Amino acid sequence: MTSTGTLYDAAGAARYWGEERLDGIGTADHDAEDAAVLNQGKPREISAAYAQWETDCLHAMLPDLTGRSVLDLGCGVGRILTWLAPRASEVVGVDVAPGMVARARARVAGFRHVELRVGDMAAVPAPDGHFDQVVCLGVFEHVPAAHRRRALEEIRRVLRPEGELLLELNNAESALLCEAAGDNPHRTGEQFENGYFCELVTAGDVLSVAQEVGLRETDRTANPFYSAVRHAASGDPEEDLPGLFAHARALDARLGRGRAMHRLADQFMVRLVRT
Ligand SMILES: C[S@@+](CC[C@H](N)C(=O)[O-])C[C@H]1O[C@@H](n2cnc3c(N)ncnc32)[C@H](O)[C@@H]1O
Repeated sequence: MTSTGTLYDAAGAARYWGEERLDGIGTADHDAEDAAVLNQGKPREISAAYAQWETDCLHAMLPDLTGRSVLDLGCGVGRILTWLAPRASEVVGVDVAPGMVARARARVAGFRHVELRVGDMAAVPAPDGHFDQVVCLGVFEHVPAAHRRRALEEIRRVLRPEGELLLELNNAESALLCEAAGDNPHRTGEQFENGYFCELVTAGDVLSVAQEVGLRETDRTANPFYSAVRHAASGDPEEDLPGLFAHARALDARLGRGRAMHRLADQFMVRLVRT
């Protein structure tokens, strides 16, 4: 991939995600769709373990969504929409890539209270104060800093007072994520000609901008044990990855809030409230 060296181009990103990233994946192949948005090219067990950590966080950190209105910002192929749909009374998925929105729409076709919209996180297609809850998972590393600030302002705008955001962020200070050779060589903070953008974002920077725009952190957990297994054993075919990840999952669920371990984590899950 070649960097463009120019300003962020959301239309290019939309083409990359909605076309190139999903190229060759059948519309009924949800496993392949999930792998395309999660952990492209890595062993399936890694994506599965990440998704389990994420689901544990959704259970532990979201309020009861009965009667609530939820926005999934950067919803991709709709992995999280299928989790939200049976739990909330209104669910809206927004993604910049029409190709992603089409996949997500097909997945939640059975739910009449789920709606999909094409839109940029820097200009969310929704009215002020509409949502009780926003979730945004795996998206912030794919836009540059100015776009992240704008997205946080937009999230605050569409949340009702006291509404909450659940935000997943990579850990730029992770000893393992930064040093793991080849983990993602394209995480350069520059947009490539094919539209792909990825950056190792410092969670503290995002959270201080969040505070400035009126979103206050109320809880944070992380996945240091998942991360340890992933980096230590993922290249070794002799290892029982599902078994190791099962131990890691249990430990992250019990100890993931302990800040002392956060330096080892690949990801944070952060809960914020609209002030
Ligand atoms: C790694 S995927 C994560 C998808 C989904 N949140 C999930 O966890 O399955 C990143 C998603 O962000 C979307 N995206 C990238 N830039 C965006 C932007 N500026 N506005 C909205 N969505 C964007 C992509 O189209 C893609 O679907």
